[in-house]
Amino acid sequence: MKQTSGISVRLLAHYDSHARTLPWRSAPGANAADPYRVWLSEIMLQQTTVAAVKPYFEKFTVRWPDVMALADADEAELMAAWAGLGYYARARNLLACARIVAKEHGGDFPANEAALRVLPGIGAYTAAAIAAIAFGKRAVVVDANVERVVARLFAIGTPLPQARTEIRTATDRITPDMRAGDFAQAMMDLGATVCTVRNPLCALCPLNADCAAYAAGDPTGFPVKPARKARPERHGYVWWMQNDGHVWLIRRPGKGLLGGMRALPTSAWDKEPDYAPPIAGQWNRVAAPIVHVFTHFALNLQVEWLHIERDCMTGQAGEWWPIDAMNDAGLPTLFAKAAWAVMEEIA
Ligand code: ADE
Repeated sequence: MKQTSGISVRLLAHYDSHARTLPWRSAPGANAADPYRVWLSEIMLQQTTVAAVKPYFEKFTVRWPDVMALADADEAELMAAWAGLGYYARARNLLACARIVAKEHGGDFPANEAALRVLPGIGAYTAAAIAAIAFGKRAVVVDANVERVVARLFAIGTPLPQARTEIRTATDRITPDMRAGDFAQAMMDLGATVCTVRNPLCALCPLNADCAAYAAGDPTGFPVKPARKARPERHGYVWWMQNDGHVWLIRRPGKGLLGGMRALPTSAWDKEPDYAPPIAGQWNRVAAPIVHVFTHFALNLQVEWLHIERDCMTGQAGEWWPIDAMNDAGLPTLFAKAAWAVMEEIA
């Protein structure tokens, strides 16, 4: 095994002059940051890019500047503010977590991994990231970027996901006792800007002399990917019912995909869903279906629209929403795409 203690020294020196300036970050060397902002950013950054997160982070911290304010948030307003960011269980857990921190911890996030880990929405990665970045604790922080950097540094040939234990052990070995938060963020920055998936900039890398994959001339050969399974396809119908400048919107059930979000009514999403519109009529079909890729399946949605009488929906759960205010409805991206498809067609 190559000497590893120099790795953190070289990486931190590089971070001191190259750290990305991000709205939730302290300057290199600060060794602590606002736990609320770190937590919020880490939840938003799960499966989501820094570029996508930035405007949401700004919006949330202006609207809810601290955890006590967030704990008091109206759930529907919070879900609408999250719309477009995806993985909506994160938003529900965000509120549940804020309420526990407010009620049971007096508004102060716990400072150690074990206590963080039991909070809603905080898994092993997020607990480690908060402990290290917000509280300066030594913690082993492994996200997808770190995974790639470490798999390359040590040319770990075991395919993912089996390689995770090995990668974690190797990350533990190179994590310093001091500045673990900077180290974690330096690894993330390296993965995002230098040690990228397809075209790593090895000539610019502060760790190129340490890197076994670079020495072997095959940086993109690591981490070794699992054989890809084809993503299953599901189909469905989405229904746009319009009356006098308004469209009928519902709220999806709290649990499940896009749970708790405002939405257009849909059929089940299935191999061959039944065609059963909410009301009978001469439905019009938008020519191109909406295609939306979720983690576990790709969805192909036929969009249909119909002008109806207002009182057709009396007694149904839902609301007439002004079409002019579509952008304020807080629709998840899938339904926003469907809405724009209809609005373009009937405008
Ligand atoms: N991805 C997840 N957490 C991050 C952070 N703190 N900085 C940059 N990228 C990240």
